[in-house]
Amino acid sequence: MNPFLINTYIAPEYFCDREIETKTLISTIHNQGNTAFFAQRRLGKTALIQHTFYLLRKKKAICIYLDIYATLSLKDLTNQLANAIYKEFPITKTIGKRFMEAIKVLRPVISIDELSGSPELTLDITQTKQFEKTIPQLLQFLDEQNVKVVIAIDEFQQILNYPEKNIEAILRTAIQQLKNVNFIFCGSNQHLMHQIFRSGKSPFYASTKNINLQKIDRTLYSNFIKKHFEHHKFKVTQESIDLILDLTHGHTYYTQLLCHEIFANGIKTIRSQTILLALGIILLDNQGTYFQYRNLLTAAQWNLLKAIAKEEKISQPYAQDFIYKYRLGNAASVKRSIESLLEKEMIYHNISEAMPYYEVYDKFLMRWLQRT
Ligand SMILES: Nc1ncnc2c1ncn2[C@@H]1O[C@H](COP(=O)(O)OP(=O)(O)OP(=O)(O)O)[C@@H](O)[C@H]1O
Ligand SMILES: [Mg+2]
Repeated sequence: MNPFLINTYIAPEYFCDREIETKTLISTIHNQGNTAFFAQRRLGKTALIQHTFYLLRKKKAICIYLDIYATLSLKDLTNQLANAIYKEFPITKTIGKRFMEAIKVLRPVISIDELSGSPELTLDITQTKQFEKTIPQLLQFLDEQNVKVVIAIDEFQQILNYPEKNIEAILRTAIQQLKNVNFIFCGSNQHLMHQIFRSGKSPFYASTKNINLQKIDRTLYSNFIKKHFEHHKFKVTQESIDLILDLTHGHTYYTQLLCHEIFANGIKTIRSQTILLALGIILLDNQGTYFQYRNLLTAAQWNLLKAIAKEEKISQPYAQDFIYKYRLGNAASVKRSIESLLEKEMIYHNISEAMPYYEVYDKFLMRWLQRT
């Protein structure tokens, strides 16, 4: 089995570090608190939740995971929560029976999802007022079952896009009254997550423990990579591992994917050639997407993206020498392009270091742009 997992969580063995974050999450839950964290895309937010759930389930906690990225309204959120509870507690068990009894008045409809083939529950309610009451009722129901329940809401910033404007207040009030249910809120949009959890005006202000999720420590990641390759009789030097981590900037998803590909290629002595070959295969696989990006951006945006890729990190994109070197026109047009690329999540403004900088969000796209 390929030990470098992408898009799945199997067991702690294949999960690198995150010990402090996991401890904080678990101890906050044990102390009846809620946690919130933000991190840039593909750094390992969802995997951290899955890892924490794996450990919590061993201690018999009920863990409910909601990814609300695709939800558009309070109604969607309500149905997703109801459906998740329905799936967690089979109707054959006591709590499942009680749940169906409790929601009978909301006229639950069970249908088979066309994509997954599994039964899905939806509530037949149409009035917004009714929905405002339903989430508190569902949470109250969970709270009364005398089991420890943890609910993780992934891509939580999505609630800010709902047409209803008082969601945060409704949720905050409902959550405050619970004794057995705790929450993990997580999101990938720094600006919006701060708006929810760090703004003095928000109902959630100062109500959660916050985690600062950064890149995995380089030494720990090195050891993890070495251990898994060597376990499968690969020969890998520190120099090769450094090259891998340099190419991916140590960003989790890209590191996992590159190692996955190197492993899959099966060449047992890992040299820089082997690594670059694997990278080349990945870039070729993604080339179609990269061309699509180019078609979706204006020439000015594309040129700026390429310039940022070539610099890898750029602190002062409005500086004359940068603009001149890549023939980017003037500072005003660079500013417009930066805003648009940020909005499209093509670049990321990293403010976690003393000297903030812009970088291409997707590390493989960055490598591809550097080659053109
Ligand atoms: N600590 C880790 N050790 C090993 N692999 C990890 C770790 N964290 C995440 N991964 C892997 O890295 C990839 C990205 O992780 P994940 O999907 O959790 O990121 P994310 O921050 O939730 O991304 P997105 O913003 O796209 O939702 C996944 O393939 C996951 O399996
Ligand atoms: Mg995720």
